[in-house]
Amino acid sequence: MKIYLASGNLNKKREMQQIFSGHTIVTPKDEGIEFDPEETGTDFYQNSMIKAKALWDLVHCPVIADDSGISVNALGGIPGVWSSRYAGPDYHKGKPDGSKISQAEQNAFLIQELNEAVKNGVDSTYFPNGPRSAYYSCSMVLMINPTKFYIAQENFEGTLIEDIKDSRGENGFGYDPIFFLPQFKKTAAEISPEEKNAISHRGKACAVIKKILDGLDL
Ligand code: IMP
Repeated sequence: MKIYLASGNLNKKREMQQIFSGHTIVTPKDEGIEFDPEETGTDFYQNSMIKAKALWDLVHCPVIADDSGISVNALGGIPGVWSSRYAGPDYHKGKPDGSKISQAEQNAFLIQELNEAVKNGVDSTYFPNGPRSAYYSCSMVLMINPTKFYIAQENFEGTLIEDIKDSRGENGFGYDPIFFLPQFKKTAAEISPEEKNAISHRGKACAVIKKILDGLDL
């Protein structure tokens, strides 16, 4: 069956096509559809629903949408839904003029901000991996129509490294070179794509949605 993916990201499309191999994944761009909804949600699942509903309204066909980001426990979940726009301690939600800083600067700022918080004292009693705990989240929606939909939200736990100079790894993207996995003693950019997919927020959310989709009689 034809499923629209609420994204213009070709890497995401390729990844989804492999996972949902019995179906045809189509992006709005593939069909010349203008799609750039405003992500006004304050959490991942709200944004994934906003994207799914906006695309469904255009195509009236089953849609998959996701929203993801990184949250640092000691910073109260910053940058969270603003992960792609994060521009340092003064600009958690992005710069007012809409300009973005490089990923390397985002990584350096996030470490600096966490180091400051840790220096000032952090109650990490309920954090899974100590004061430097962080986690990725991915919320994924399969919307058959606006009254019939399925959502999975999964996390991927780790810590942030202490010094930007210790960034490591060529795989992955985004915050992966500074996201340390205690069980591997490696960053998320050092493990293979297959290893990451098996344990990552997006990999796990995809697996749940795939199971649901395979069980539906459409
Ligand atoms: P989106 O869900 O494609 O909008 O991604 C939001 C942002 O979250 C990305 O631009 C990255 O900064 C961050 N992010 C989400 N997932 C990952 C990941 O697996 N590795 C690194 N960064 C990620």
